[in-house]
Amino acid sequence: MKSNKNKLLVKSTAKFVEEKMRGEATGHDWWHVYRVWRMARRLAKNYKETDMLVLELGALLHDIEDWKFSGSVEASGNVAEQWLKSKCDSATIEKVKKAISEVTFKGAGVDTRPTTLEGMIIQDADRLDAIGALGIARAFSYGGAKGREIYNPLLKPIFHKNFKQYKNSKGHTINHFYEKLFLLKDRMNTKAAKDLATKRYKIMKKYLGEFFKEWSGKA
Ligand code: ADP
Ligand code: NI
Repeated sequence: MKSNKNKLLVKSTAKFVEEKMRGEATGHDWWHVYRVWRMARRLAKNYKETDMLVLELGALLHDIEDWKFSGSVEASGNVAEQWLKSKCDSATIEKVKKAISEVTFKGAGVDTRPTTLEGMIIQDADRLDAIGALGIARAFSYGGAKGREIYNPLLKPIFHKNFKQYKNSKGHTINHFYEKLFLLKDRMNTKAAKDLATKRYKIMKKYLGEFFKEWSGKA
């Protein structure tokens, strides 16, 4: 059973994040966080040993001041720490920070498997929101907000070997499917997420098939 104190902390954290991320235009708005939080709780049902406080706080804070908009890789953890300080014990804060720091995709060639159960579940929930019908919407929203082209047949996908290369890439959004989104189904940590990812992968594949049919001028 969740203690009343923990419940209140999760609730106030949700409110804090909602206020900070509401209306964000790269697909990292409050509703993305809300879906990740809900999915994380759903996936955790299969793992009774999950530290639910760490899981919920981590899911809620995973994209706060993310490098993609703040420009700094450490910013997320710092804001999370600042917010949680004096609201819960330091062991919980460290676990939340660790989980957040391990969520992000860093390029096709980089191993980003989290080291804790809570981190694995949050990463799966976050990655599920990057694929399927929702993922398609978020990818084009991100591309638009960052001034990227939808597609440019002259620019081929790149297999990024390190985070720096991935972070600095400015490719078009269709490439992002090959550089990240199609890879995610084979990088899920939990069984339930893998099953959902396989379904969402098929939706993206079908969509891109149609996209290229129309692009070719024959459909
Ligand atoms: P992660 O921490 O793994 O990057 P996030 O939830 O913070 O996960 O962000 C992932 C989302 O950002 C993806 O769903 C994708 O839509 C979007 N995104 C990131 N980079 C790009 C890109 N180069 N082109 C299009 N979308 C992108
Ligand atoms: Ni996210």
